[in-house]
Amino acid sequence: MRKEESTKHLLQKGGSRSAFSGKLGYVLAVAGSAVGLGNIWRFPYLAAKYGGGIFLLTYLILMLTFGYALIVSETALGRMTKRSPVGAFGTFGKSIPFRFGGWINAVIPMLIVPYYSVIGGWVVKYLFEYLRGGTKTLAQDDYFAGFISNGMEAEFWFLLFSLLVVAVLFAGVKQGVERVSKIMMPLLVILAFFVAVYSMTRPGALAGVKYFLIPNFENFSWMTVVAAMGQMFYSLSIAMGILYTYGSYIKEDVDIEKSTKQVEVFDTAIAMLAGLMIIPAVFAFSGGDPDTLKAGPSLMFITIPKVFASMGFGTGAGILFFLLVLLAAVTSAISLAESGVSTFEDQLGFSRHKSTLLMGAVIVLFGSASALGFGVLDFVTLLGMSILDFFDFLTNSLMMPVAALSTCVLVTRVVGLKKIAQEVEQSSEFKRKKMYGFFMRYLAPVCILIILFSSIASVLGWITM
Ligand code: TRP
Repeated sequence: MRKEESTKHLLQKGGSRSAFSGKLGYVLAVAGSAVGLGNIWRFPYLAAKYGGGIFLLTYLILMLTFGYALIVSETALGRMTKRSPVGAFGTFGKSIPFRFGGWINAVIPMLIVPYYSVIGGWVVKYLFEYLRGGTKTLAQDDYFAGFISNGMEAEFWFLLFSLLVVAVLFAGVKQGVERVSKIMMPLLVILAFFVAVYSMTRPGALAGVKYFLIPNFENFSWMTVVAAMGQMFYSLSIAMGILYTYGSYIKEDVDIEKSTKQVEVFDTAIAMLAGLMIIPAVFAFSGGDPDTLKAGPSLMFITIPKVFASMGFGTGAGILFFLLVLLAAVTSAISLAESGVSTFEDQLGFSRHKSTLLMGAVIVLFGSASALGFGVLDFVTLLGMSILDFFDFLTNSLMMPVAALSTCVLVTRVVGLKKIAQEVEQSSEFKRKKMYGFFMRYLAPVCILIILFSSIASVLGWITM
């Protein structure tokens, strides 16, 4: 991930901008930022809710076309300009559309990290309960609902998680955290693999495996596409300026096409493993109950404890699992917050200290609203959603499509596909150049307009989510 704490002094020194230590370092850094709660918590609940196999298929197609084109574009623009999004857009023009394009990319992570930290808090709470030996308690049907509706408790765990994130940013020990995560990430994969096998071999689980892997067109709805696209942005950390920043740290010899492929494969593999842990368990432990399938954000916290409660060494597995998920969440939250901090530094000219404090304040303010939204603030609904769901919807279904559209317009209308191709071709054959052009020019804008239209239509109540 980022080698230097402050983009500001890097930008001032211009030429001496830091670079990743090597090609592998870069791929690991991007994969590390991609793999987080999005894979383990968000992907399985969306897949369960929006049609199983058909959701998976839609996701895969979008990722290999639209997602691929966007990752390449953002990375290439970052490397070309050596700037984070606001600066990158600013390199090509100073007028309002350029400012808007840069800022919308930069603001999204600031709005995600607060509610991300609320989920992070839930993870800490579950870890704590496993450490106390509450394996059976956590597996009870209404445990999770009871926990989050006790707003003060959710708030407490949220604050604890955010404190950890802000403390790391302050201490600047981010690199240490990442070094640890490079060891823990493979551990997470191994553990997830075993849990998935265990979960798939429970009686009745096969129906879940089928539901998740075999597309059934009867389950298709527009929301399948909208949700899959939002998830693709989220999981691959695209359409929020992150890859501009990462791209700005790499040298000309990194093969952008190849590293994009590697990151996509890794990220999807982990999401699918998580799906195979959680969805078959819904069928085995809740008989495929439609209500459980549609549980939404709480799904992981409902089904995984049931799996652990049913197996030998369940407490140990629970501790290890939530510890590793916590780690994935912390590293992702740190990069999200770091991106906000560097935007404040670069664009507002704040010191690192002040920027970190400001980011911390944003996290506490919006995050508390999200955490309390299931408790004392549960009378507040925004567009018919709880506060946490609203932030998720606002960023993933409204802002990210607009951010992605800005990148498309920048690439096709301002910079030109040719220049992007030249940038990529410095170190890559760019075999998919033709397709890339097609994706950026036609496919991406069409997809984006579909998702925007559907999101707005669902807010207006024309279609149901
Ligand atoms: N991709 C991360 C996940 O799946 C979440 C995320 C979105 C993220 N944008 C990011 C992480 C930027 C780090 C940086 O959980």
